[in-house]
Amino acid sequence: MLAARAFGVPMIVIVDVDENRLSVAKQLGAYGIVKVTTSLEDVGSEVEQIQKAVGSNIDVTFDCAGFNKTMSTALAATRCGGKVCFVGMGHVIMTVPLTPAAAREVDVVGVFRYKNTWPLCLEFLTNGKIDVKPLITHRFGFSQKEVEDAFETSARGSNAIKVMFNL
Ligand SMILES: *[C@@H]1O[C@H](CO)[C@@H](O)[C@H](O)[C@H]1NC(C)=O
Repeated sequence: MLAARAFGVPMIVIVDVDENRLSVAKQLGAYGIVKVTTSLEDVGSEVEQIQKAVGSNIDVTFDCAGFNKTMSTALAATRCGGKVCFVGMGHVIMTVPLTPAAAREVDVVGVFRYKNTWPLCLEFLTNGKIDVKPLITHRFGFSQKEVEDAFETSARGSNAIKVMFNL
């Protein structure tokens, strides 16, 4: 979301199952937030909610989770001729309703986000276009015990967003 904002995207709606992450997104400038479930049956009604929250056609959707459901939601929510970028990659074989999305000429693109992204990222951090500090919710030392606690905190989710080590 912060990257999209840095690129000047005016209306960003964040979708998540976690109330806390949504409220952080809202504080950091999300135009709208939509809380969803993990249940596949809810895709139809949630897509409507997401579209309503944006208030106009959704041009671009990023799925950062990589579940059947999140990919299906992304494909269904995006406007005819829009673009879906799959950032989260869950499994080799995903079950999604591809045909309706293809019939609506939605483009699917992938990204390997670890490659060639650093120079622009560092520039955004250096010139203050993106402030990542609010995302850092926890800091740990680097002993065996602290490393275990850090991973547990991160895995638990809840109020943990970015969990950092002080080296
Ligand atoms: C995706 O859906 C298929 C079909 O229902 C299921 O077999 C598969 O386990 C699901 N994959 C994930 C990652 O949930």
